[in-house]
Amino acid sequence: MGAATPDLPVPTGDELAALEVLCIELATTAGRFIRDERPDRLGVADTKSTDTDVVTVMDRRSEELLHRLILEARPDDGILGEEGADVTGSSGLTWVIDPIDGTVNYLYDIPAYAVSVAVVVGDASGEGTWTPVVGAISDPSLRLVHHARRGAGAWTRPEATIESAPESAPPRRLTVSQEDRLGRSLVATGFGYAAEVRARQAEILTRVLPQVRDIRRIGSAALDLVRVAEGSVDAYAESGLNAWDLAAGWLIVEEAGGVVVGREDAPGKDLTVAAGPALVEPVRRLFVSEAP
Ligand code: IPD
Ligand code: CA
Repeated sequence: MGAATPDLPVPTGDELAALEVLCIELATTAGRFIRDERPDRLGVADTKSTDTDVVTVMDRRSEELLHRLILEARPDDGILGEEGADVTGSSGLTWVIDPIDGTVNYLYDIPAYAVSVAVVVGDASGEGTWTPVVGAISDPSLRLVHHARRGAGAWTRPEATIESAPESAPPRRLTVSQEDRLGRSLVATGFGYAAEVRARQAEILTRVLPQVRDIRRIGSAALDLVRVAEGSVDAYAESGLNAWDLAAGWLIVEEAGGVVVGREDAPGKDLTVAAGPALVEPVRRLFVSEAP
């Protein structure tokens, strides 16, 4: 397991800044890889929880790439990855990686997929037992990378500036939407792969839809969280997320001034809700109970 030791010190200052730089480089490298090396005839290599929960050869190759680069740079850290990477570290830090988030979009060549890379402290294999300290999400179709480290804001920059950082394209600071009216809110959501879970999620939407401006199903939880951070949707709510879907996006939303919660406490499988401070509670209530 990629469990971290809770009593080891949490990185701060220059160490945290260096981890963020590495995180950005790794997400960008894997993002370029899946975009530039995507085979013309990409097929389904395997399935996981259901027949529609697919894995492509590129999910595996992207995770192998990240795995190798992390071990080269940070041999003492743990790794937890969507395609099975599971390394026990001794440093107290775990890299939580989604090598392609939005795999169904990627399979269909719909340009809304991402690579999500985060470093977390705590037990990354549990629920509510870990916290992200740095995170980066690469959006290869838009050639952008979104990133944050604890206490230093959330930022978007063009992929091309990662190595050279030209003055012509400075990073853009992300800020969540100020919308506080549920009825005026655009709410992103997503669905699991299991039929019975989807049926329940569809039922919940019958009470959500009449109460919000509209919903969006973009197909990548990581990009949904980035949209909350940049204010291009007002909120996001989904059940069934794993640590790799939400680790980087959680931090990016918080560093953009937003709040990320679960049904009762920390976000996770049961429920993840992200929004600005005034909207998060009404949205949480809407997804949890009969009425807001
Ligand atoms: C999925 C996407 C999707 C969300 C699912 C996730 P994957 O991840 O983030 O938007 O609705 O819950 O499992 O399978 O594309 O890595
Ligand atoms: Ca995912």
